[in-house]
Amino acid sequence: MEALFVALSTVADPGDQVLVVEPNFWCFRRIAEILGIEVVGVPSRADTGFDLDLDAIAARIGPRTKAVVLSNPCNPTGRSFSREQLEGLVRVTEASGCWIIADEIYRELFYDRRPTSLGTLTDRAVVVGGLSKCSSLMGMRIGWVIAPRPLCQAMTGLHTYTVMCASSVSQLVAREAFRDPRWLEWTRPELASKRLLLLQALEAEVGLPCVPSEGSLFVFLDVREVTSSSLALAEGLARDAGVVTLPGSSFGESGEGFLRLSFGATEEHVVEGVRRLGWYLPEGGGSAVAAPARTVFAPASGRSR
Ligand SMILES: Cc1ncc(COP(=O)(O)O)c(C=O)c1O
Repeated sequence: MEALFVALSTVADPGDQVLVVEPNFWCFRRIAEILGIEVVGVPSRADTGFDLDLDAIAARIGPRTKAVVLSNPCNPTGRSFSREQLEGLVRVTEASGCWIIADEIYRELFYDRRPTSLGTLTDRAVVVGGLSKCSSLMGMRIGWVIAPRPLCQAMTGLHTYTVMCASSVSQLVAREAFRDPRWLEWTRPELASKRLLLLQALEAEVGLPCVPSEGSLFVFLDVREVTSSSLALAEGLARDAGVVTLPGSSFGESGEGFLRLSFGATEEHVVEGVRRLGWYLPEGGGSAVAAPARTVFAPASGRSR
């Protein structure tokens, strides 16, 4: 989180503007607002599986735009943008010279091909990562930013005069993680099997479509058939069924009509959560919903990432 804060405060001044690709991690918007930076949300379209809408991004770039911000793989949609999409993003931002802040904290949590890092495509990339997700070391508070040297020097100044450095305990743990690469991916197999479990349970108990989860630990469930307010549905689920989900609208307006489900919980909780979801949904849920779970958007075959 500090990495995002430092990156945003270094690339933009109060009164400048950043574009945030939505739906996305709401902290991008909150951090920018705290810093007095104007945020322009760029909606992505559900019918493309929330791919990057390059025309919409290009149309919003103006003289005050200092950066485009996104997460890849994406929280909340679980999409992992293809190499072609990312190259397109580099192309449409080229003339403005703005930075691209790519939060790649979920990069090691992929279920097909490893996502392309934006840092391999342009020297205007500011890549954010950390050990919280891939190594389940959230409590260690270890993260990083990869960017061109002059930007790193400016960010180091800010880091030095706020946090100074990560605690020595965290640094020792991080050193062990980097010494043995298995640490950087040990959560993936377990998450992959829980992802499958969640998708199968959704098919059996709920029967609503979802965005293909290619990375992260989330499935974005399409609830447009059953509600016009994802917030009301999420509140009802928490209150009446004891199931915590996040409304898609909290990640930007274009996330309305979707619920973010996490497969980070135990297997029992994943299965029980979906059972209750099926029970709660207006249709009656469970076996009363005959339609099999279907993905709204099959990723185009043959795409490289
Ligand atoms: C996209 C994204 N970036 C950053 C973070 C924060 O990570 P950390 O706990 O390492 O600060 C999160 C946490 O959920 C996240 O989803």
